[in-house]
Amino acid sequence: MLAVSSLATATSGTYSSRVEIRLTAPNRRLGVLISGRGSNLQAILKAIQVGDLDASVALVVSNREDAMGLVHARTAGVKGEYLNSRDYANRDDYDAAIASLLRARSVGLVCLAGFMRLVRRPLLEAFPNRILNIHPSLLPAFPGLDAQGQALEHGAKVSGATVHLVDAGLDAGPIVAQSAVPVFDTDTVDTLSARILVEEHRLYPQVIGRLLDGTCRLQGRRVICDPPASASARRLPADN
Ligand code: GAR
Repeated sequence: MLAVSSLATATSGTYSSRVEIRLTAPNRRLGVLISGRGSNLQAILKAIQVGDLDASVALVVSNREDAMGLVHARTAGVKGEYLNSRDYANRDDYDAAIASLLRARSVGLVCLAGFMRLVRRPLLEAFPNRILNIHPSLLPAFPGLDAQGQALEHGAKVSGATVHLVDAGLDAGPIVAQSAVPVFDTDTVDTLSARILVEEHRLYPQVIGRLLDGTCRLQGRRVICDPPASASARRLPADN
C-alpha cells in the first residue's frame, strides 16, 4: 500500500495530504547524476571523506561526455559512466538505462547534482521518492535554467538553494530544505551564483544524511523532518 502511494506521488506529481510516507532508502549507497562541473558531487564526496556524511558514492552517471564531474569521480576512485542519450530511441529508454545502471550498483538513493534533464517515469518508478535534486533558487521561484539570472532579472532581494524530492515536473517536487542568501544591488550572475553555491555545498550533504537516517516523512507536499538528535538533546533540560 505504502509502495503504491509513493509511486503514485513520484510519477504523477499529485500529493494527497491523507497519505504519509516515511522517506527512507534501503542502504547508504548513492548514485549521483551530473551534467557538468560536478562541484556538488565534490561536496558530497568531501563530506563522506571527512566523516560528515555516512554514505558512499556507488556510481556517477553523466549525460555529457566532457563533464568535469566524471573526472572528479574517477579521481576519487568512484565509478563514472557516460551515457549518450542519442544511443537510445527515446527519453524513457534512456532513463530506463540509467535506472538499470543504478540498480546494478545497488544504489539506495539517487542525487541529481547539476543533472540538466527532466527525470522520466522509468527512473521515478525505480526509485520512488528516493531521488533528490538541488536547485540554485528558493523554489518554487525560478525553476529551470539560469535560476540566478532569473532572480536578478526579477529583482528578487533574497534567493538561495533548495533541495527537493524529484517528480516528473521541472524542479517541482516537494521541498526538503532551503537556505537563503541576500541578493545585493551590485550582484552579477557570477557573484550571486557563487554565494548560492556555498549554501548548496553545505546543504546537500546535510539533507542527504537526514534522508538516509530516515528522519523525514512526506505529508501531502510537505516534508517534515525530526529535529537532529543533538537538537532534541539540547532542548531536554529546558523541557524538564
Ligand atoms: C548547481 O548550481 C545546481 O544547483 C544547478 O546546477 C549547478 C550544478 O553545479 N542545478 C540546477 O539548476 C537544476 N535545475 P555543479 O555541477 O558544480 O554541482
